[in-house]
Amino acid sequence: MDLQLVIFDLDGVIVDTAKYHYLAWKRLGDRLGIEFTRQDNERLKGVSRMRSLDILLEIGGQERTNTEKEELAAAKNAWYVEYINEMDSSEILPGVLPFVAELRAAGIKIALGSASKNARTILEKVVLTEYFDVIVDGNLVTKAKPDPEVFVLSASLLNVAPAQAVVFEDAQAGIEAAIRAKMMAVGVGDPQVLAAAHHVIPCFADFSLDKLNSVLKG
Ligand code: G6P
Ligand code: MG
Repeated sequence: MDLQLVIFDLDGVIVDTAKYHYLAWKRLGDRLGIEFTRQDNERLKGVSRMRSLDILLEIGGQERTNTEKEELAAAKNAWYVEYINEMDSSEILPGVLPFVAELRAAGIKIALGSASKNARTILEKVVLTEYFDVIVDGNLVTKAKPDPEVFVLSASLLNVAPAQAVVFEDAQAGIEAAIRAKMMAVGVGDPQVLAAAHHVIPCFADFSLDKLNSVLKG
């Protein structure tokens, strides 16, 4: 494979924002009288904001009108934004920065493919924006993962064929989206959870372009 593009998911791959999503959803759950646990939070990884709210309401056996749901999602997001505004580059997950720098030095294009509408804010906060040739986030796509739109759009904006792109993802829905986009899907995390991926790494610590190339040859 002639590698030309690496597409990164954001939450759970570049930074661990799941903990802030959890705090904000928990705060909303407390307000609604819904008990929301860290285990419940696992179900929200890679899931859109509105679908996440539906899952929270399902857990509590509650229903709301669409107008009420818009308000609840906005309240959750305001709290989430408070948390991410405190982030800095120390929150970049281990190994990510050297790997991204290595890709850049090798002339490989780099894209962000995230469902989050807060992706740009987070990249600014952790000072990574300048590494990305394109940022495709929840404001640019209409169909959530596992739909391949976010990855297909990233590659097409950079004129790269899907067969020359690799996606790094921590969520099942993201792996499915990458496979549906006909790209090489590398899972970041638990190999049992990410069994559908072409390859799984635990994290980027100890990972490198050489290792990626061996995987691609493999
Ligand atoms: C990512 C996260 C999800 C989050 C979604 C939307 O996929 O893994 O937990 O719900 O982005 O994020 P947003 O910042 O737009 O609410
Ligand atoms: Mg993710």
